[in-house]
Amino acid sequence: MKTQIAASIFSIVSAIALAQPAHAVDMTQDSGSPVGDNQNSQTAGPEGPVLLQDSHLIEKLQRFDRERIPERVVHARGTGIFGEFVPTADISSLTSAQVFTPGSKTPVFVRFSTVMGYRGSPEQARDPRGFAVKFYTQQGNWDMVGINWPIFFIRDAIKFPDFVHANKPSASTGVQDPNLAFDFFAHSPEATNMLTHLYTDEGMPDSYRHMDGFGVHAFKFVNAKGEVHYVKFHWKSRQGIESIRPQDIAHSIGADWNLMTNDLYNSVKAHSYPQWDLYIQVLSPKDLDKFDFDPLDDTKVWPASIPEQKVGTMTLNRVPDNYFESTEESAFAPSRLVPGIEPSEDRMLQGRLFAYADTQMYRLGPNYNQLPINRPVVPVYNNNQDGLMNEDDRKGEVNYEPSGVAEIAQQDKFKPVQTPLKGTTQQRAIHKTLDFRQAGEYYRTLSETDKTDLITALSGDLGRVTNDANKYAMLSYFYKADADYGSRLARATHADVSRVKDAAAHLGDN
Ligand code: HEM
Repeated sequence: MKTQIAASIFSIVSAIALAQPAHAVDMTQDSGSPVGDNQNSQTAGPEGPVLLQDSHLIEKLQRFDRERIPERVVHARGTGIFGEFVPTADISSLTSAQVFTPGSKTPVFVRFSTVMGYRGSPEQARDPRGFAVKFYTQQGNWDMVGINWPIFFIRDAIKFPDFVHANKPSASTGVQDPNLAFDFFAHSPEATNMLTHLYTDEGMPDSYRHMDGFGVHAFKFVNAKGEVHYVKFHWKSRQGIESIRPQDIAHSIGADWNLMTNDLYNSVKAHSYPQWDLYIQVLSPKDLDKFDFDPLDDTKVWPASIPEQKVGTMTLNRVPDNYFESTEESAFAPSRLVPGIEPSEDRMLQGRLFAYADTQMYRLGPNYNQLPINRPVVPVYNNNQDGLMNEDDRKGEVNYEPSGVAEIAQQDKFKPVQTPLKGTTQQRAIHKTLDFRQAGEYYRTLSETDKTDLITALSGDLGRVTNDANKYAMLSYFYKADADYGSRLARATHADVSRVKDAAAHLGDN
């Protein structure tokens, strides 16, 4: 094992050949003044202690002591890369967003990630993969903060901190524990569809290049006339989908636990640029009620009867040369939208609209949008000012509105579309939950090999659940989704199939 890990470290070093500067430059302190000796501290004579006046030593240690910032509360392990997006269809009848104007080319920064692991955790984890794209458009930044599947585990933001607590390493041991995860999922049947995806081979992509991406939620497209359509986004990998099978996972981690980053960066450095085509599904607001599920529920896919149309292509072509200033300091937020794209009423998305910019003000500080990786390519004008590390170079004393002399104009034409509202304030689950059907439909599309791998991977974790009630609740959900699926899982976890069948019969919703 030791030898394998050492080998993987060396493979990284050789992959990222050490760049030699063309000519050596004089080392300076942060103030710019030259450093004489960077190898020996100033001391009181040959035997004496180190001197407080050694400002270079003190600054060097102080800066080192402060190198780490809080890691992302989720998606801490990630890989950033630059590229460009080119639209391939005229969809001005759907959206006024400039990023889709034919003939345009928009720079992007993409961050791929795992979800639950710490910043330095192995990249082969049974986890969704983050697929976050920042478009630096001529109307400001648009972030599409998605994952590699079209759905999610839960449908209401109020459950998200609990979902993460149960799935992150245990609060007492610091180790991930399926007992905690399945305790949560046994009481969250809406996760059945996503869990089925998670435990297929696609839960272990063999490379970031070999997976699709999805916006997951519905968004609203608004055209120049103010007409609204609901839309879902799908990035389709031109490299195809490839995964690591359960029996190969241990070897893969042993061989190189930074597999995903090394694969992506080595590919781009070898001028093999991965590409994804962007597809959309479009739904008219009048059709929202036509389904037996809720199209604004993020645990559901939209059916093939809502056709996908290709609208653009993204090419990733440049490896950042500063990990911290790109990948670590990048800040993606579903609320970062541009005219022509608006949030839908999806309850998860609504919570996300708040959470990202909020955590980023904590993780990076209030002026994080001024960092080069987050800064829009268009000028920023508003009356926000000051705060920690501000450097927006704002000029002028009229930093308020209304004003007869202000030079910054409001633009009424960019007001959000007017949406009719109905009902009264409430705190209730959605009507059409339909928690199990799509999981069963998905299961039945899998090949026999994929089904076998799913049963192997899922029973591996479910078999470790010691709480009988939770185990049988989970098995009943999978049985309700598909009898063959539930029976095979029950057998693989040494459970009583007839008890599972009986429990499934008492589940109302499918
Ligand atoms: C209400 C539910 C959710 C909340 C409150 C939430 C919250 C967060 C937070 C706080 C971060 C860290 C952001 C940062 O530090 O910069 C994050 C990252 C992320 N989340 Fe969520 N999340 C939610 C649901 C989702 C869903 C449904 C998806 C997928 C569609 C998703 C995809 C991501 C991705 C891809 C990242 C990493 C972004 C990056 O690479 O920097 N999240 N989330």
